Amino acid sequence: MKPDLISNDSQLNSSGKLIHLLGLKGLPKEQIENILNVASRLLDTQGNLKKSKVLDDMSVANLFFEPSTRTRNTFEIAAKRSSAQTINVDLANSATKKNETLMDTMHTLKAMQIDMFVIRHKKNGLPHHIANNIEGIAIINAGDGINAHPTQALLDMLTIQQEKKSFKDLSVAIVGDIRHSRVAHSDIHALRTLGTKDIRLIAPGYLQYNGDVSNGIKLLDNLDEGISGVDVVVTLRLQKERMLAAEIPNEKVYFDHYGITNEKLKLAKPNAIVMHPGPVNRGIEVDTAVADGPQSVILKQVTNGIAIRMAVMEVLAQAL
Ligand code: NCD
Repeated sequence: MKPDLISNDSQLNSSGKLIHLLGLKGLPKEQIENILNVASRLLDTQGNLKKSKVLDDMSVANLFFEPSTRTRNTFEIAAKRSSAQTINVDLANSATKKNETLMDTMHTLKAMQIDMFVIRHKKNGLPHHIANNIEGIAIINAGDGINAHPTQALLDMLTIQQEKKSFKDLSVAIVGDIRHSRVAHSDIHALRTLGTKDIRLIAPGYLQYNGDVSNGIKLLDNLDEGISGVDVVVTLRLQKERMLAAEIPNEKVYFDHYGITNEKLKLAKPNAIVMHPGPVNRGIEVDTAVADGPQSVILKQVTNGIAIRMAVMEVLAQAL
């Protein structure tokens, strides 16, 4: 599938309020900036998280149909830090296994008076389908197939903003399996909306982005060329679960060409930051010395993920 085919129109109501978070394509800049501002207010000057009462009396259900560590846990922590009740629906043992349709499961959960669903699913557009077929409940997309992962991109933007201040004059390199990466797809929309002019997508042809390349997006297959002089390097996991067996590259050959090592990082600006959405595969897309090195902000991204998820839920709660 080509990215960008799924519309996010139903995430805004007729007065332009955010009622679901489905994707960043088409989301106005003011909405993105508002979420970043709310998230920044939830962090103290040391970058530690505050607590909030905004979701008092609300319930948030996590529905993860795909594996997840940081996204599911940070959504749960974010909901709890905002004083909500949280429910992790045990999908492996749920009635969907007894052939209940997904929409019946959703309506059953809605009848339990849940206010927000956080949904991850391997099918592109599944959260959008649910949002279009159920009322009075806010849907948050926690990753759908290769399509979108809006909260990951927002936490990436928050991390960049903390480190670099302005998006306009930045050079950002996204390196690796861009074709199968919902994170890269959402990052591209966020960076474009926030005004970043130099976005370089670096990958071998068969893992390269196949979406819209208007608006100054550069496609490169050479890491040395692509990483030269950038402010931000976003590395990505090889998402083998989304590849055909014949497409899976030899990991050593891949690392030699696209792995981020300290030597490669020297080509970027001296104060460049290295990001990764996780899970990190050391020695495949990034060397351990870089992942744990002084330019890595990977763990900062994790903490920022809680602030962003609290902020998204706070903004959505205002429309409920
Ligand atoms: C990413 C995802 O699931 O899309 N991880 C995450 O949410 N932190 C990236 C990946 O799986 O490689």
